[in-house]
Amino acid sequence: MNSQSVRPQVRAGMVGMGMIFDETYRPFFESVHEKGLYDRRFGDVDVTMVAVATKTGQRADRYLAQSAGKVPAFHSFRGDDAVSQMLAEKPTFACVATPDDRHFDASKAILEAGVHLLVEKPSVLSLAEIDELNGIAERNGVLARVVYHKLLDPDHKKLRTLVYDDVLKHVNNGYCSLLEPRQISGSQFSEWITGRNPGTYVAVHYIKLIDFTFGGRLKTVTCTGQRGLVGAKDGNTWDSVQLRLIYEYSSGREAAFDIHTSWVTPDNFPGYVEQEVQFRFDNGNWNGHSRKRGVELTVENLTPLKMKNTINNHYNGSFVEPWGERSQRGYGIEVIERFAREIAIVEHGGSNSERSQRLSEIRKLDYADLSADRQVVAAVEAMELILAEQAKGNPDRVARYDGKKITLH
Ligand SMILES: NC(=O)c1ccc[n+]([C@@H]2O[C@H](COP(=O)([O-])OP(=O)(O)OC[C@H]3O[C@@H](n4cnc5c(N)ncnc54)[C@H](O)[C@@H]3O)[C@@H](O)[C@H]2O)c1
Repeated sequence: MNSQSVRPQVRAGMVGMGMIFDETYRPFFESVHEKGLYDRRFGDVDVTMVAVATKTGQRADRYLAQSAGKVPAFHSFRGDDAVSQMLAEKPTFACVATPDDRHFDASKAILEAGVHLLVEKPSVLSLAEIDELNGIAERNGVLARVVYHKLLDPDHKKLRTLVYDDVLKHVNNGYCSLLEPRQISGSQFSEWITGRNPGTYVAVHYIKLIDFTFGGRLKTVTCTGQRGLVGAKDGNTWDSVQLRLIYEYSSGREAAFDIHTSWVTPDNFPGYVEQEVQFRFDNGNWNGHSRKRGVELTVENLTPLKMKNTINNHYNGSFVEPWGERSQRGYGIEVIERFAREIAIVEHGGSNSERSQRLSEIRKLDYADLSADRQVVAAVEAMELILAEQAKGNPDRVARYDGKKITLH
């Protein structure tokens, strides 16, 4: 018996192998294959991607060829039955990184198979869907987690620490923006962009940041958007979206947050995305600019198209480490590794008889648990309902959320 076969095994499945797979999941699976996953609680564990399910199989084939020697060969399934074929390979957990309106079916199949789930943001698009998934996860004794990597951004961790420690007191209002380049809507997402909007795709990062950092109760959602570049000026495909959320806190006081998003920013923009947050408190202001963190780079014939002037070295950067090793690291990858550790704690962190205690210990870590994502999904569902009404010729609707359901006014 070789040493590998006696190590505890965590088997991973993957649904969707697009841009985010390449940026975060791929580097994680490659580095964990080389280095393993270790913690005193669960020891030295192997984590291996054993099977993938994609629409056409093309990207999986390409990665199979490119990754030879970096990760073990994996089974690749394509087409309508791909997810159930992937599940037949008995993964311990499976990740869903398909376009956001295709998260639900794959997530449901994964949880029904008794497999832990990691789903990309936004988890799902309606309260009915999130309630169904949470019910299945609970019944089947598995984790359902959602990836919000911006909660692991060191700047956002510092913001939350200052709020948590009551240094910054009561948030009154805030503004966040996340503007994607035009190539995202024009080429990268062209297969699925019809009928979609950049708010669901990226405002959700900040909805979660606001919800997780400040707590409180979501009460009201308003929203508007512009059309005419990605789709028709009166259609249901959106260029840019402005969202407003109103929260109430246990003190009875309120806060309002505006989140502006777009996927039609010119491609020669100096950064990969424009990201800014401002929060105003009773006793202070927080102004963060994720693009202008201090580096300005110019390289003839490379910037700003092939390489950006303001590069984000915190999310996901490729480096030569001081000790000579090539690495790809950052909070976008750290969040996937953190999930693998949570799985290893549940499955290998102690005796079988205590598995359910370990499961509830991890479920209580609500930064990623689907059971704590309901208010975020309510905001997304409300935004989509308001945009759908605007597309039908009924603009300026207001959504109210009472903790259970959304009503449009
Ligand atoms: N965490 C982040 O910052 C971040 C960044 C980008 C994307 N995402 C999320 O990741 C998800 C995917 O985004 P992306 O940028 O990788 O998109 P993409 O268009 O680059 O890739 C989508 C992938 O899903 C596959 N796919 C499509 N329909 C499928 C189906 N029915 N069954 C199986 N596979 C299917 C496609 O073949 C492709 O491999 C989205 O939910 C998005 O919100 C997250």
